[in-house]
This record gives sequence, structure tokens and C-alpha cells, in this order.
Amino acid sequence: MTSVLHIACSPKGDAAHSWRMASVLIAGLSDQNPGAVISTRRLDQSPPTLADAAFAAEMMPHTTAESARDAGALQESERLIEELDAAEILVISTPMHNFTVPAALKAWIDQVVRFGRTFHSTPTGKIGLLRDRPVYIVIASGGFFTGENPTQPDFLTPYLRAILATIGYKDIHFVTAEAMSRGPEALAAGEASARRQIAALLVR
Ligand SMILES: Cc1cc2nc3c(=O)[nH]c(=O)nc-3n(C[C@H](O)[C@H](O)[C@H](O)COP(=O)(O)O)c2cc1C
Repeated sequence: MTSVLHIACSPKGDAAHSWRMASVLIAGLSDQNPGAVISTRRLDQSPPTLADAAFAAEMMPHTTAESARDAGALQESERLIEELDAAEILVISTPMHNFTVPAALKAWIDQVVRFGRTFHSTPTGKIGLLRDRPVYIVIASGGFFTGENPTQPDFLTPYLRAILATIGYKDIHFVTAEAMSRGPEALAAGEASARRQIAALLVR
């Protein structure tokens, strides 16, 4: 049975545009994988702990799953990594906040991108330790950040591509629902575009 993990990052939870579009995608993935088990981690309801001094102190010496389980400040990190690694397909639904990831998603990233556990450092760069798998990232934004006339910089998609590659995830697909704050017509057009992107991904 295929396992799908949905990391839902909007503070608006299941009322979010990104959640609604991710639900369309997940329904399609379920059709393609009958019996798929869908788990949802709602960062609005359980925001990850911010990486604090204890986390920073324990992160370097406790690099294995076994020793991390004994290190208090790493137990949440270990649980989130195990949940992530158990999924065969990852779906991240997220808004764009100030040109990049919302704070809750950054906190989740700080918990799961961990030296010695999900990546190694070498003189020539970082090497991911998790196996690659399909990752679908569904983004909602108030304005436009792709296309011929983006009205703002995009630090969201390049950042997510780079940070997920650091832990080994390179099979990454983006869906964007843009201009959600530009009135009902723009919203409908943005959602229609997102649905077309999802349909195109599902026939691959
Ligand atoms: C704190 C904050 C920062 C935002 N920054 C941006 C931004 O940089 N660019 C943008 O297009 N929209 C921005 N927005 C608007 C959201 O991206 C937009 O409302 C989006 O539809 C929210 O998605 P959601 O419904 O999935 O949460 C911001 C919203 C908030 C609350």
C-alpha cells in the first residue's frame, strides 16, 4: 500500500487555498494508488518547536537515530524524520509568505534537515541520506511570482528545491495557485491553472 504524507503548512489549516488544491492532488494520487494511506501533519495545529539552544547543542553529537532518541531536544526531530522517511510520496501544501516559506514550514525544515541524520557534509558539499521519492509542492500566493510578468521575487521554489535535495529528495514537482488575493476572477483563474497543472502531473 502506498503511503502519502501531507505536510500542511498554512496557518489557515483546511480553509487554506493551498490545502484545497492539495486535496485535489491527493484525491488524484489516491485514484492512481488504490488503498493509499494518507497521513496529514497539520503545522497549524501542531507547529514544530523552534530549534533552540538545546537542539543546537545536541544536534552535532547525536547524529544517529538511536542516540537521538535519548537526546531530549532531538526526540521531536527524530519523530518527524521517521514520519517523513516512512512516506513513499510527500505532498507539501504551503502559502508564500514574504516571498518564501511560512515560519511553520521553516521550523519543520529545521527539525528534519539534520546533520549526520538526514545529510552528510563533505568537502564538496552536502549529501542527502534519505532515498529519493516523488514530492509534490502545492503553493498558494496572493500575487504572481511565475510567468512572464512576476510582480515579486521567488525565494520559495528555489529554496525548497535546494533544501529538499540536501536530504536526498530530487523528484520535485510544483503546483502554483497564484493571485489568490486579487479578487474573485483572478482567484478562479489561479485555481483553474492549478487544477490543470495537477492534471498534467497525474498523467505523467
Ligand atoms: C504573513 C503573510 C505574508 C504573505 N506574503 C506574501 C508574499 O510574499 N507574496 C504573495 O504573493 N502573497 C503573500 N501573502 C498572501 C498569501 O500567500 C495568500 O493569501 C495565499 O493565498 C495564502 O495561501 P493559503 O490560503 O494556502 O494560506 C502573504 C500572507 C501572509 C499572511
